Amino acid sequence: MPEPGEFVVTPYEVHGKIDYDRLREQFGTEEVTSQVLARIHHLAGGELHPLLARGVYYSHRDLPALLDGYANGRPFFLYSGRGPSGPLHLSHLLQFDLCAWFQRRLGVPMYLQITDDEKFWARGGLTREETAQWGLENLYDILSLGFDPKRTHTFFDSRSIAALYPLAIRVARKITFSNVKAVFGFTPSTNIGLVFYTALQSVPCFWPSWAEGRAVPCLVPCGIDQDPHFRLTRDIAEGLGYPKPALLHSQMVPGLLGEGVMSTTGGRTDDALYLNDPPPVVERKLRAAFTGGRATVEEQRRLGATPEVCSIWALWKTRFADTEAKFQEITRTCRSGELLCGDCKGELIERVHKFYEQHAVARDKAKSWAESTIVTSAPKSI
Ligand code: TRP
Repeated sequence: MPEPGEFVVTPYEVHGKIDYDRLREQFGTEEVTSQVLARIHHLAGGELHPLLARGVYYSHRDLPALLDGYANGRPFFLYSGRGPSGPLHLSHLLQFDLCAWFQRRLGVPMYLQITDDEKFWARGGLTREETAQWGLENLYDILSLGFDPKRTHTFFDSRSIAALYPLAIRVARKITFSNVKAVFGFTPSTNIGLVFYTALQSVPCFWPSWAEGRAVPCLVPCGIDQDPHFRLTRDIAEGLGYPKPALLHSQMVPGLLGEGVMSTTGGRTDDALYLNDPPPVVERKLRAAFTGGRATVEEQRRLGATPEVCSIWALWKTRFADTEAKFQEITRTCRSGELLCGDCKGELIERVHKFYEQHAVARDKAKSWAESTIVTSAPKSI
């Protein structure tokens, strides 16, 4: 475990209290500045996704060049993914929400990767059938966030391997064991599936360029914990003759228990709000969630509360305050002591119930076309 004040962020391990600015410096990524945001706002026709406007997406690699290209008639594609180890929770939606928004605003294609292999290799307690089944369930949830069936393509690793493998062969030759050891902290007892796996996560970055026989730029919105994979991808891109993917990194949603990020590991199921939690469970978890409130109502009225440390405020920020005005009002009245935690939770619970109801309807629709997005063959036979 890290020392107090220390934190660890890798694709396979996140703990400690994350200092996101320090993490960005450690990783050597760029800050999402107001100029970059203004650029996106303009290209998106005068709109900014709340996750961008509120600084949840705060770090990038090479985004301005990709946006310049788009403005000059060089469209890019989006790529993001999910390692299915169980039901999705709200933190998992950030990258797909942003992708669906970019797709709607800019009309660009989306490539989604479901890594049922990765999670089988990385997690002890799951059978291969379970990771594959969760992959399908997660796919329905993701597609129903507003993706366009005609422009969305899924690599479901165990079922799409014929499509991925010819390119994976070339990618894997460029990555050595000492690379993955340094980047992921692998040891001699790490299984060789995981050692190979990062090659498969790189492949979608290059796949459209390979398929179309020309350089197609790629943008990967993802949690900043995934950056190590794409550092490797970017290092090998030019040697393979493909553009380096641009990245847009988000912070992670804090857990409901108030320690670290929303996470399913370690069996702390009350830390996360799952998309398949029934209404009474949603209510119980949110009622018990950690807030930035004071010990007594009197104190809170007098001194106000602290939104920045509150897991409920984080949910308003990352999903449930659908307008800037609403978000500002929650933040202001929380800080001033006008809004009490019980009332704030009550209002949020109503919103969450409503979202879950709408999501269930959208999910049923997405089920009917999800299979048709799965890519099963390579664009070329060799
Ligand atoms: N490794 C990711 C996970 O554990 C899944 C993933 C695959 C992914 N391809 C991606 C995430 C591209 C972000 C972007 O969930």
